[in-house]
Amino acid sequence: MRNSDWFKDVVVYQIYTRSFFDSNGDGIGDFPGVIAKLDYLKDLGIDVIWLSPFCKSPNHDNGYDISDYRDIMKECGTMGDFELLIEECKKRDIKVMMDLVMNHTSNEHPWFIESRSSIDNPKRDYYIWRKGRGENPPNNWESYFEDSAWTLDEKTGEYYLHHFFKSQPDLNWSNKEVREEMYSIIEWWLKKGIDGLRLDAIHHIGKPQGLPDALAPEKEWEKLNYRNTDETHEYIQEFHQRVLSRYNVMTVGETGGNTPESARLYVDSERNELNMIFHFGHIFMEKLDAPFVRDYYKNWYTSLRERGWDANFFSNHDLPRHISSLGDDNKYHRESAKAFATLILTLWGTPYIYQGEEIGMTNVCFESIDDYRDGACKQQYELAVKNGKDPDKAWKDFIKTNRDSARTPMQWSSEKNAGFTRGKPWIKVNPNYININVENEKRDGDSILNYYKKLIALRKSSSALKRGDFKPYGSHHPKIFAFNREDKNENFLILLNLSGDMVEYRAEDIEQGWELAIGNYNNQPQSLLEDNIFKPWEVRVYIDV
Ligand code: GLC
Ligand code: CA
Repeated sequence: MRNSDWFKDVVVYQIYTRSFFDSNGDGIGDFPGVIAKLDYLKDLGIDVIWLSPFCKSPNHDNGYDISDYRDIMKECGTMGDFELLIEECKKRDIKVMMDLVMNHTSNEHPWFIESRSSIDNPKRDYYIWRKGRGENPPNNWESYFEDSAWTLDEKTGEYYLHHFFKSQPDLNWSNKEVREEMYSIIEWWLKKGIDGLRLDAIHHIGKPQGLPDALAPEKEWEKLNYRNTDETHEYIQEFHQRVLSRYNVMTVGETGGNTPESARLYVDSERNELNMIFHFGHIFMEKLDAPFVRDYYKNWYTSLRERGWDANFFSNHDLPRHISSLGDDNKYHRESAKAFATLILTLWGTPYIYQGEEIGMTNVCFESIDDYRDGACKQQYELAVKNGKDPDKAWKDFIKTNRDSARTPMQWSSEKNAGFTRGKPWIKVNPNYININVENEKRDGDSILNYYKKLIALRKSSSALKRGDFKPYGSHHPKIFAFNREDKNENFLILLNLSGDMVEYRAEDIEQGWELAIGNYNNQPQSLLEDNIFKPWEVRVYIDV
């Protein structure tokens, strides 16, 4: 039997199945494709795979719009394929985390089809319907992907709420029947052998009483009053009591807009909600800034250390590749990719790696908007141009921020289509696959991939790196982020040059006995006392011996 806090010791790998590996040539990644690559993942050393949504879906938002919670998306394969995947993972001692979308369904879900059919349909109250304010929507809430969060349905003359696409109507969690449906769906999956849940947009499930106008409708995220509400916490506690408490399952919530303090409401172990949440404050840095990074992790650690836990990541399927946005995907590609790896894998909290990150996959720049697939970003780009934004500027911003950069097919080899498919990929492959691919990196002892492997192995063999204290080291430095990870057995000092500059740095009070455990350049000083010049993006992990 596993301990209930096993989630603290694992490394998670996110698979965006659609873009991972296509087994049947239809151009879309699938479960047999994942099975075919499990040995690769085992060799990498990860413990858990997080599978992006795989329930039946019209794929308006690539599975984040579910039309049947108890069926498999046909692009992924069959229920038999899914069961085989679980079995194959068990054989290799890999745990499976499901991405569960409970805030909304697809507008093609039978519940919504019924709900919209008439005002007195029994399923009407499964969703959130309101009359408009005169000619206007019921309140000023904005959707992430469209203008208003409300769409008028001609049939009954009322508006329904959707925080995302209009094809993703929000469920009404204040309706007990909806909650019961959800609990029984989740149990159904847990019984099939799911070990973990990533809870999509979970901070939106509880709508504030009376649906009042947002104080700052203009996407000033912190001020929005419709996320992270008291109602949301009530429902998660009920969910915990009814389901989570009875299974040994790890949970991570996707919850934008939290501070280290408000996050405690989700992850304080005595409140019985979730194990950890994703927070995004570090993602939206304009430029990587060592003092900011230091304070950021210090604040999260200080707030959560006693009765909580943290989740560490820089990339996922919604964000540009961090090597391109915050690192250097050109001159110091290898060095900066390894620097981020070191950060993510030595911090306090569970590390999450996004597919392709381990080989340094980068953002893409396709020629035309037609090569892009994600409706959310395309729509925003088109809207910006329509509203008078300079098209060049709009395009540049689009290239930097669109979600497809993280969704191009996994680069397995230098064969056609990066070895991802023998058919036509659903989205084009990044042309740099010729150089950046798994096969190349396997052969190269110095590759990003081999560095990830070594680091993961180091973390897994060390109690201090997994659960030890986190202590910022020395004083603030403009370029170097330095910290200790320490427990009663071991002490590590991690030194990261978060810049492309040469930097002089001396570990102030260290005398002797520290040896290099891992680092990202050849011929690095084996002892802390030897050399004080850090090369661009140079990182060193020392251990006190
Ligand atoms: C989350 C997902 C994102 C999706 C949205 C709506 O933010 O990560 O991909 O579009 O929720 O479900
Ligand atoms: Ca396929």
